[in-house]
Amino acid sequence: MEVQPVQIETILLTGGLGFIGSHTCVELYKYITEKNQTQNFHYKIAILDNLSNCMPSVENKIRSILKESYPEVDEKEFFSFHNIDVLDLDALNKMFQSFADKRENVNFIIHFAGKKAVGESVKNPILYFENNVCGTLNLMKMVEKFQIKNFIFSSTATVYGETDNCDEENLLNPLQSYAQTKTCCEFLMKAMCAAHPQLRMVCLRYFNPAGAHSSGLIGDSPSVYPNNLFPFLEQVVIGKREKLYIFGNDYNTYDGTGVRDFIHVVDLACAHISAIDYLFKLTDTKNFEAINIGTGSGISVLDTVTTYSKVIGRQIPYEFTKRRDGDVGQLVAKAEKAQKILNWKAVKTLEDICRDSYNFIQKNPNGIQ
Ligand SMILES: NC(=O)c1ccc[n+]([C@@H]2O[C@H](COP(=O)([O-])OP(=O)(O)OC[C@H]3O[C@@H](n4cnc5c(N)ncnc54)[C@H](O)[C@@H]3O)[C@@H](O)[C@H]2O)c1
Repeated sequence: MEVQPVQIETILLTGGLGFIGSHTCVELYKYITEKNQTQNFHYKIAILDNLSNCMPSVENKIRSILKESYPEVDEKEFFSFHNIDVLDLDALNKMFQSFADKRENVNFIIHFAGKKAVGESVKNPILYFENNVCGTLNLMKMVEKFQIKNFIFSSTATVYGETDNCDEENLLNPLQSYAQTKTCCEFLMKAMCAAHPQLRMVCLRYFNPAGAHSSGLIGDSPSVYPNNLFPFLEQVVIGKREKLYIFGNDYNTYDGTGVRDFIHVVDLACAHISAIDYLFKLTDTKNFEAINIGTGSGISVLDTVTTYSKVIGRQIPYEFTKRRDGDVGQLVAKAEKAQKILNWKAVKTLEDICRDSYNFIQKNPNGIQ
């Protein structure tokens, strides 16, 4: 009997050296290692990043984390890295063509590459629309040209605007440029799926990712001024900032401060693996899904500071200040669809997030170097 050659396929993570992409790469390697043992397909990981919001050293940190679990594997084999900007159509074309030439076609894209600072997007909409929307449009050109079947997209809870009901079927109400760029990308994905029934796309609407890998090697280390609560908290905790400014204590929430749904970044990474698994098994004709990724329970910024203080055994100093442009009072996931469709739910607690965040900042007081 003739032995069938093993077919190689590539899973591409754009923005894969960033906060969420790096954690997803670790979980994805575990997943494909299991999958590669059981079938005629062999999956490889490729990371694309233009290093605009991450340190180049993240590449080796991911390899070190994987080496701990897979000492027998050559570090170079874990994934390939491509220093490319998604706005550079020519470079994208060359990269996808080189995979096709090697018979290692990309068949999955997880598109993390994007700018994410809400405040910056309000001040500089062109930067945000160009990077986030044109970048996604360029990838869609690659999807069409290279017949890439599966696409998972990093969307955001901010597409809902201010609402107590973050139901996936609601009409979207993006209130600032950042959320508007993500909404545009979601519409583009939907249009692509309508035009090409063979495509399968999932758009994951993340709530508030936080925490870090338990090794403390990777975490959120923005190269621009931090925009999210946890990177700020971390700087206060290690004494780089005197106190935390809490933006607004006059929201219509249980204690007046913003209420958010914090999700551990490793739980979030695992949601991507569940989404890949879902797409692998999908036989349905419905080829586009938007799914919330959160814990389903909200906690105020003030209570988050209290929990972090308890975990580290000392009070974190804070001061209330005025609301920030673009922020809404409350955003909490309706988390049932993820459980039903992806068979995924968050398992880590806010204490886990605080503990891993503290471990990360103690090991990287100046951010990832
Ligand atoms: N972190 C959050 O709070 C959050 C919440 C909701 C959605 N998201 C979305 O998830 C995605 C990942 O977020 P993250 O927190 O990991 O951000 P991040 O900034 O840590 O990672 C994004 C990565 O993309 C790269 N990148 C940016 N523009 C690029 C371009 N034009 N070409 C190639 N690479 C580019 C950056 O260098 C960075 O490494 C983003 O699209 C973000 O909008 C993040």
